[in-house]
Amino acid sequence: MRARMVSKTRMVGKQIYTFLRRTLGAVLVDRPAGVDTARSVKLEELGLSGEGRTHYEPSGWLDLRRVLRRSEVSGEDVFLDLGSGKGRVLLAAARYPFRRVIGVELSAELNAIAERNVRDYRGRHRCGEIELVTADVLDYEIPDDVTVVYAYNPFMGELFGAVVEKLLASVDRRPRQVRLIYKTPLEESRMLATGRFRLVKVARGLRPGRAWSQKMSIRMYVVEPTSLDAPAPILAATPGA
Ligand SMILES: C[S@@+](CC[C@H](N)C(=O)[O-])C[C@H]1O[C@@H](n2cnc3c(N)ncnc32)[C@H](O)[C@@H]1O
Repeated sequence: MRARMVSKTRMVGKQIYTFLRRTLGAVLVDRPAGVDTARSVKLEELGLSGEGRTHYEPSGWLDLRRVLRRSEVSGEDVFLDLGSGKGRVLLAAARYPFRRVIGVELSAELNAIAERNVRDYRGRHRCGEIELVTADVLDYEIPDDVTVVYAYNPFMGELFGAVVEKLLASVDRRPRQVRLIYKTPLEESRMLATGRFRLVKVARGLRPGRAWSQKMSIRMYVVEPTSLDAPAPILAATPGA
């Protein structure tokens, strides 16, 4: 009985924290930047719910910056957000000198919002171009010039496994250095079981409490090429990780 009350109080606490965080993000960043990325959307509302698909919830505005320094990106790099939603991470990635920033999103409605956000964004853009694709990730071929992949817990279970296979197939077709940034890495063990991902950085989630911070962590992995002639880079661990 007591345990149930504690867990209920914790859940309500998390909901209040999440609400305040989202509202602050909307007021302090979205509004001044002229965009709308804050409100989460259930896939049921869009008639798109399905096995392994997760709902829309934005990453934090600073999440990408916490694991990827600007000096670690060159004009040859191409960024891909798997499940890009309203485009918040695409806007964050656009501040780096990527040659191309791509978002793949299942929902045409969310992608239309992303398109407006890209058009209206008042922040700085450094990247070459931003490309928005509306597709189920299962029908999407990962371009063989992509070098940085971002995923905020967009897929679970077998769907996630199928996407990992697609990424590995792309690296095998054209061996190159690819980094995967995975926020809230609930399917990490499935991914590590392939033996092709090496963890190089961890940034703890900015949440109260150890367990919650750990769950919301942002991790960067290097995808190991099968071919030994494309050596994986040595990247420093984030201090305090
Ligand atoms: C947690 S949100 C992350 C949004 C964005 N990447 C960010 O970090 O702000 C996950 C997104 O994945 C999308 N998604 C879920 N299943 C998908 C699928 N099969 N194909 C493409 N996108 C999908 C959802 O619509 C949602 O927008």
